[in-house]
Amino acid sequence: MSKRPYVIDQMISAKSIAARIEDLCAEIHDEYEGTDKLIVVGLLRGSFVFIADLVRELDLPVEVDFLEASSYGNSMESSREVRILKDLRGEIEGRDVLVVEDIVDTGHTLTHVMHLLEARNPAKIKTIALLDKPSRREADITADWIGFSIPDEFVVGYGIDFAQRNRNLPFIGKVRFTDE
Ligand code: IMP
Ligand code: MG
Repeated sequence: MSKRPYVIDQMISAKSIAARIEDLCAEIHDEYEGTDKLIVVGLLRGSFVFIADLVRELDLPVEVDFLEASSYGNSMESSREVRILKDLRGEIEGRDVLVVEDIVDTGHTLTHVMHLLEARNPAKIKTIALLDKPSRREADITADWIGFSIPDEFVVGYGIDFAQRNRNLPFIGKVRFTDE
C-alpha cells in the first residue's frame, strides 16, 4: 500500500468506457466474422475487467485464456526485462489470437509478449489496449485497437491498480497525491 495520501479524480466514466467498448467490438466483429478459432488472451492482472466486458459484447464464438507478465525496470538501462509469471493453458498454433492489454505505457511488456506468442505460429495475432500512453513509449509498438489515448498520468480503476488497490473502481481515475 502507498503510504502517501492521495485522491482519485475521475478521468473516464463507466458510461464512456461501455460506449467505447461497443464501438471497438463492432470493429473487432468485422475483423473476425466467420472465424471459429478466435482466442482472446488477457494479460493479467490489469485486463481482467476489460476482457470480461469485451467478450460479453463480442457476438462471436470465442475462447478465453490468460497470461501474466511482469516487467521491472533496471535503473542503469532504458530497456526493461519482462518475465512470464503464468503462461497460457492452451495452444495457439493456427488460431486467431487477440491479445488484450490494460495499458500500453513504455510498450516493453506488449513487445515481449508479442514475440513470445508469434513464435508459436498463430494464424493471426492482433492486439487491443484499453488505454494508450503514447508519450511514454520506449518500444516501437502500437496496439491494433485502442480504447482511449491518455496523457502521462498514473491511472487506476476498471481493473487497473495502484499498489494492488482500486482495481474495483468502475471508472478510470487519475491518482493525485494530496501532500504535494
Ligand atoms: P509497459 O511495459 O511500460 O508498456 O507496461 C505496461 C504495464 O504497466 C501495464 O500493463 C500496467 O500494468 C502498468 N502501468 C502502466 N501505466 C500504468 C498506470 O498509469 N497505472 C497502473 N498501471 C500502469
Ligand atoms: Mg498490465
